[in-house]
Formats: sequence, structure tokens, C-alpha cells
Amino acid sequence: MARCVRLGAFLLGWGLACAAGAGPEERPPRAAVVSAHPLASAAGEELLRAGGNAFDAAVAVSATLAVVEPYASGLGGGGFWLLHRAADGRQVMLDGRETAPAAARPELFHAADGTPSPELSRDGGTAVAVPGVPAALLYLAKHYGRLPLARSLAPAVRHARAGFPVTPRYRRLVQYRLELLRADPAAAGIFLEQGEIPPAGHLIVQEELAATLERLGAEGRAGFYAGEVARRLVRAVRAAGGVWELKDLDDYRVVERAPVVFEYQGVRVISAPPPSSGGVVLAETLKILERFSLPGSGPARVHLVVEAMRRAYRDRAWWLGDPDFTKIPMQRLLSGAHSARLARDISLSEATPSTKLPAPKRIPEPESADTTHFSILDEAGNRVAATLSINLPFGAGLMAAGTGVLLNDEMDDFAFGFRDPNAYGLVGGQSNVVAGGRRPLSSMTPTFLETPERIALLGTPGGSRIISMVLLAILDFTAGAEPQSWVTLPRYHHQYLPDILQFELGALPAGEQRALRAMGHQLQEKKRRYGNMQAILWDRLGNRVAAASDPRGEGEARIFSVGPCQPAPVH
Ligand code: DON
Repeated sequence: MARCVRLGAFLLGWGLACAAGAGPEERPPRAAVVSAHPLASAAGEELLRAGGNAFDAAVAVSATLAVVEPYASGLGGGGFWLLHRAADGRQVMLDGRETAPAAARPELFHAADGTPSPELSRDGGTAVAVPGVPAALLYLAKHYGRLPLARSLAPAVRHARAGFPVTPRYRRLVQYRLELLRADPAAAGIFLEQGEIPPAGHLIVQEELAATLERLGAEGRAGFYAGEVARRLVRAVRAAGGVWELKDLDDYRVVERAPVVFEYQGVRVISAPPPSSGGVVLAETLKILERFSLPGSGPARVHLVVEAMRRAYRDRAWWLGDPDFTKIPMQRLLSGAHSARLARDISLSEATPSTKLPAPKRIPEPESADTTHFSILDEAGNRVAATLSINLPFGAGLMAAGTGVLLNDEMDDFAFGFRDPNAYGLVGGQSNVVAGGRRPLSSMTPTFLETPERIALLGTPGGSRIISMVLLAILDFTAGAEPQSWVTLPRYHHQYLPDILQFELGALPAGEQRALRAMGHQLQEKKRRYGNMQAILWDRLGNRVAAASDPRGEGEARIFSVGPCQPAPVH
């Protein structure tokens, strides 16, 4: 705690000094923008060079990703923006998660025979929750940015009109949702070429999306949540079997939430609170691990990390959901007594079957998916780590004609019972059941790490595996590694149910796999590598900024200087 107070004092003091000193620097020597797409990273740099701060740049990057990564996030989706304002040290998470329409209820997702039907929460009108991204961009610009919203949206508008070139990743993700896109004339007209996957280099032009972005910039809330755009959105969702009303859009609000904050081995971790499960699962896992002496590598390390994950993900399934609807025992879950209890039955030599932890079993296979993360640090020290989503690639595969807005299928993140996992194999109960106005539980985990010397900003897409990826990066940061290592690290994962230790292609050497099997772990090597982490390190002692984009993706890290000693943000 004492350190946090001291750190706060450093941050508050930055305005007084800009020259290099002997201790940890109070302002970064350079700015950094790292995102999953080069055009979005460039948009962030453009805004910082135009006099914007990290929050204006975050609006520009979010909006540009909505254009150039239509499979990952967009105006029709939601997200979490973790913010640090240098002027006063304020740290907050902007919750722009989608909400269920008022008429939503579990039976909406049942087939005629009364059994849950996964398609109903993944494809078409019932899958679509009310989007939060447009409201969040408005809020960011108004309360944290320095520039008008329309200025920050300008790069996105430009790219929507001029078009962006199809990449191998785009082709792979279209393939995954091809039938769905073919079935929707508005979406097919833009994202396909005569009903087929467009060739690499083909330009995707989105005139209508450009107009919707301009409308949002000019009219604010009324440009999306009311009027012509809102009417078209509701019409499209209802025509596809959904239950939206205009009032659902009118009712949508972003929420500022206090992040989950805890210490792990001298590192202050600031991460996403409910309705994301990220911060709580990270805190529980790391608090369990702190009770063991964790080897630096080898099967004994993987075993311990997996046993900790298993227990934390079980609590996720049992307790977590939208905090405005379900009572989450946060204090207890984050307490030392709870982690001591969870750690007590971990054997150093044997896997605990998840079924031995009280709860039912099921072994589904998580599917491929998409979502996006970006991180921004400006030279005043403002920070944004944001993870945004429309859930599965191309969301519900539904575009509201005339708006260019591709709609999410985030309703699948609600729990359909312990026997019916969602697309990521996640199970859950009452704490995350569908209800009108409620936000589905997320795994998106934008995170800051702080020591007096080093500050990190990171996050990644990857469904249920987001949290374990961020966890492995935190362990790597704690061991002193750099962003290139955090984003490149081989990854492994356990989420309680299914009771499987998954790992990336090639992540665990054969000997390690044998040792883990001998301990009773059921192993599964994935066919692909997964994740798309975007990370920044500000080394305050070394007075340098480093950033890295996951080699598994097509992203880009930019580090640059706009000029020293910029004036403080006005808000
Ligand atoms: O909010 C969530 O947890 C999911 N909708 C995120 C989906 C995702 O990361 C898919 N990415 N590969």
C-alpha cells in the first residue's frame, strides 16, 4: 500500500519536471501505440500528433479497428477500456459491454423441444446484444479526450471510404463464418466478392459505415441510439428473429467501474472487474501461486499454474456475472483466506480432477474466435488498455442494411447452465443467467502492471483463454522479461471445465508432456497457436519505452515522439 501511495505521488508530480533525473522517470520519453492492425496503430499516432491525448487516440484506434478488423470488433459490439489519467492518477475501467434487450430470457435460446440451442445465441437476431462501443467512444471523447469526437473518428471514416486491403487473417476468418455471411445480403455485399472469399489485396469499401461514423461524430448519441440508424438496427435484429425494441437502444449506458487491484510479488496489477471475469480470475490464480515456490520452468511449473487456474476458473463459473444483477462476494473471493483454502488441496505431484472440485462435468471443444486488443501510452503518461469484441468472427453475421454496422453475438457469453457450455467451453450458473438489461460475463482482461520502476499495458483476444494468456505474461513481466517475450511466449491453459490442459502447437516439449500426463493431466495440443497480444512497457528507470505486437497476428507497434513536455490534459 505504501508503495501505491508513493507511486501516486510520482504521477501527480510529473508536471513539475520533464528533464531526465536519477530515479524513475515521471513521464515517458516516447509515446507508443500497439494494435492488431497497422492502419489502426497509424490512426492512434495521427491523433497524438494532432494534439490529442491517449484517450483521443483510443477513440481513433477503436473506430479504425471497427473498420479494418470487421471480424473482431466494431460499432455493433462492446468492450472494456482500462484508463490511467496521468494528471490525477485516476484509474478506471470504462464498461462498454453490450446488454441483453429487455425481452431477453433463457427460453429465447431453447429449441422447440425445450433444450438449449447454441445457434440461437451465436447466429442471427437472438444472438445480438445492444452495442456499447458507440456510447463508449462518445464518453471517452467527452470526459477524457481533448479533441472533438468527429476529429478522432476521421481516420476510421477515411479508411471506410477508401477501403482496406484483404489480408490472410481476413480470409481465414471469413472462411469460418462463410455460410452465415452468404445468407445476409448486406454483409455479403461488403465482405464477400460475388459470394466468395475475396482475394488478398482486394479492397473492402464501407460507404455506409463511413456515413454512420460521421453521424455519430456530428449528432452524438442520437446518431446511433435513436433516429434512422436505431430504427434500421432494430428492424434488422427483429427480421432475424431477435426481440429488440427502440427503447433497448435508448436505455444503453456505459458505466465507469473501479478496476480490480491487487499485488503479486511486488507488482501492482490493475485489471478488469465484473462484468469481466478477468481481474478476479487473475487475482485468485496469482494469490494461490504466491503460496508456492514456483519453479522458473518445466512441468512442475506448468502443473502449479494449471492447478491454480483450475480453481480460479471454477469460481468464475460459480460466482461471476453482471455485478448490477448478481451479488458477487468480491471481498471473499479476493481474500487471503480464500486463496489459502483453494491452495490447500493442491498436490505437487498429482492433478486434481475438476470433478473432485464440487460441480458437474462436461468436455466440449472451444471454437476459433475473434476480438481485438490495443494499448496506448502518451508522453504525458496517460494510458489506455482496451479489449473490444463482437464475439465470434463477424459477430452474428448480421448487418443492419443501410448502416454498415455488423452486429455482435455476445448473448452467447451468458451461461446456459453447467451442462451447456458456450462457444469457449465455459459453463456457468445463476450468476450469469440471461435477463433483460443484463451484461453477459466476459473474459476480456485489459491490464496494467506497475512497479516503481516499470509500467506495463497489455491484453489480448482469445475467449476463455484471454485470462490465462495475460496471466502467463504477468509471470514473465515479474521475472523481468520484455514485451517481445510476453507476446511471443508459448501458451497453455486450463479453465476448470473441460478438465483439459490445452496448449499451443509446440508449446510443451515431449518430456514435459510425459511428466504432466504422469501427474494425471489430460493434455490437448491445439492445431494452431492462439492469441493476439498487444503490449507496451515503460521502463521508468531506464527511461525508455518498448512495445510489441503478437507475432501470431498482423498487428503493429509504433513508438515515437510528438514532442517533450506537452501540456497536461484539461479534464
Ligand atoms: O467477452 C468475452 O469474453 C468474449 N466475447 C471474447 C471473445 C474473444 O476473445 C474471441 N477471441 N478470440
